[in-house]
Amino acid sequence: MVPSREALLGPGTTAISYILFLSSLQNQNYKGHGLSKGKEREQRASIRFKTTLMNTLMDVLRHRPGWVEVKDEGEWDFYWCDVSWLRENFDHTYMDEHVRISHFRNHYELTRKNYMVKNLKRFRKQLEREAGKLEAAKCDFFPKTFEMPCEYHLFVEEFRKNPGITWIMKPVARSQGKGIFLFRRLKDIMDWRKDTRSSDNQKDDIPVENYVAQRYIENPYLIGGEMFSPGDFVAQGSPFLFTLTLDHHPLPDVHLTNVAVQKTSPDYHPKKGCKWMLQRFRQYLASKHGPEAVETLFRDIDNIFVKSLQSVQKVIISDKHCFELYGYDILIDQDLKPWLLEVNASPSLTASSQEDYELKTCLLEDTLHVVDMEARLTGREKRVGGFDLMWNDGPVSREEGAPDLSGMGNFVTNTHLGCVNDRKKQLRQLFCSLQLQKKASS
Ligand SMILES: Nc1ncnc2c1ncn2[C@@H]1O[C@H](COP(=O)(O)OP(=O)(O)O)[C@@H](O)[C@H]1O
Ligand SMILES: [Mg+2]
Repeated sequence: MVPSREALLGPGTTAISYILFLSSLQNQNYKGHGLSKGKEREQRASIRFKTTLMNTLMDVLRHRPGWVEVKDEGEWDFYWCDVSWLRENFDHTYMDEHVRISHFRNHYELTRKNYMVKNLKRFRKQLEREAGKLEAAKCDFFPKTFEMPCEYHLFVEEFRKNPGITWIMKPVARSQGKGIFLFRRLKDIMDWRKDTRSSDNQKDDIPVENYVAQRYIENPYLIGGEMFSPGDFVAQGSPFLFTLTLDHHPLPDVHLTNVAVQKTSPDYHPKKGCKWMLQRFRQYLASKHGPEAVETLFRDIDNIFVKSLQSVQKVIISDKHCFELYGYDILIDQDLKPWLLEVNASPSLTASSQEDYELKTCLLEDTLHVVDMEARLTGREKRVGGFDLMWNDGPVSREEGAPDLSGMGNFVTNTHLGCVNDRKKQLRQLFCSLQLQKKASS
């Protein structure tokens, strides 16, 4: 499993999404993405790409040297498809060895809210059996969640144990805050059950939409009021508290941090957007809470990436043609504990500000570097631009040499999440040394 990842993206201040790239799961040793042993990968004169997305992605693909766009039914080497195309066509599309496609066949194991939780719960149990309670507790980063309606009775039991707390109901397969509502009384959920049962859906025999009921994190970390030196911020962050129009049972002061939702806020500023670079966020936190607290927070976030991917390692169908870019929705609470809310298989690639455009462009360029259609990488890289290789059948150390896992003494995980962004320099060095190696060997 290769959770190389690019840090960043911060919609709002209470939640940050991280974008993470996972290359072929089958390819545990990161040997050039499905490259069979001993077989040299071909360098192609041009790479034929296809995509239906008309956003930053299209710009990046069109500007990439040697890549040519294919339209309609033309043959392609690289397809950034949408998940609906995948669902309908993947099983009967023949793909040559070198071809790459932007989703895993059953990505929903991680990216549907109910499946994600099911996989995490199962993985937690497995860890408890095999490695003990302490290790299993490292999976406690998602709020208590029940699938509805099938776990309704379990939910009611839990609900009764904790009277007075707030729950959030979310449709398992929708996005951008659609269909979400909060509740505190069982009666509200009964109304919802009745509503869904008696709706027109039922008449047409369309199954009731599945939801998850999840414990609502009531103390999100907020940034507001005391911003430090505004000039320091390329994109100004602001708290963007807003009141949502709730579908069912309105509660005041709900914070949904989806950018799609925030855009409708009267305070939204299209030029500034509502995101912070992760680096800024890290600095801000360090100035308020000290470097140690921030270290712990970022280590906990890295743990979320690794554990969530491990939880689906055995269930995702490994196919060397597939890669995927995930958007991690993580909410940080006032105790600086990060909570995983969901993982998106199609994180928004549309830019909401100039800075966001630059960020996404860099992210996508690096994604293409890692996918490596040009066959330039050796497969032993630990960093490619903004991506770090964090796991390679075990944690990857920042230092060279065998990892000291015994006491975890000097072991520093190879992650630069929220650190100074030196991707340009890193890429220059990387491609320079690759060229030198190539020259030397030819
Ligand atoms: N358990 C929760 N506690 C607090 N806020 C939440 C919780 N779940 C979701 N939210 C808020 O609602 C937003 C949307 O929820 P999310 O699970 O990401 O679904 P969507 O697919 O609609 O984006 C999140 O970004 C977050 O701001
Ligand atoms: Mg979300």
